[in-house]
Amino acid sequence: MQLSAANQLVQILHNISFEVPAKQVLAIVGPSGSGKSTLLGLLAGLDQPTHGSIYIDGTNITTLAETAMAHFRRQHIGYVFQAFHLIPTLTALENVSLPLELQGVSTGEERAKTLLHAVGLGQRFHHYPAQLSGGEQQRVALARAFISQPPLLLADEPTGNLDSTTGKLVIDLLWQLHEQHDCTLIFVTHDSALAARAQRILTLRDGTIVHDTACSA
Ligand SMILES: Nc1ncnc2c1ncn2[C@@H]1O[C@H](COP(=O)(O)OP(=O)(O)O)[C@@H](O)[C@H]1O
Ligand SMILES: [Mg+2]
Repeated sequence: MQLSAANQLVQILHNISFEVPAKQVLAIVGPSGSGKSTLLGLLAGLDQPTHGSIYIDGTNITTLAETAMAHFRRQHIGYVFQAFHLIPTLTALENVSLPLELQGVSTGEERAKTLLHAVGLGQRFHHYPAQLSGGEQQRVALARAFISQPPLLLADEPTGNLDSTTGKLVIDLLWQLHEQHDCTLIFVTHDSALAARAQRILTLRDGTIVHDTACSA
């Protein structure tokens, strides 16, 4: 993976090759700048690699055009960002139901309500992101990520902007939703205790995988 910065090509990831069995929980760790977010962005099809291929459920996503990728992403991938990334002009309920509405699913609102209840925000349907705490916003983001029942859930430091108590609550919810929805979960974290809850840990350094460890949880 190379990105152009000020017309200079910067090699970010190299010699990366790994396979994730369906339903595995995989943590990605490594120092800041080691390429974790870049890797997750590639897996989500938000970025394109300069070389190589990425297969998700048998589809080579690197060959998909932008609209086909957007369609594939909506059906297969849930994404949770460190900074929540909710739409500020939409309520919690609207943020969560949006992915299904974009797919033309008419039951989106009912499912969004169920998911908001599941993350403990049954009383917050009509609040806007600015009226919610960071932990509450991330719980809305979790509900949104799971609404399409994606087989693959990606989370980039989902607790990075939260205090440790709130972070633990969000992670417990992430785990609970993962178990209920039976999806593959790939998350980036700085927290070694959190990484140890995964079944497997990939460690990145300088854009390459230096350890691929099975956990004996
Ligand atoms: N758009 C970009 N243009 C140029 N370099 C970038 C860009 N995005 C990230 N990088 C560089 O790629 C490397 C990996 O970044 P990132 O994937 O964000 O690391 P991490 O998430 O592990 O902290 C860093 O050296 C960063 O400066
Ligand atoms: Mg990052």
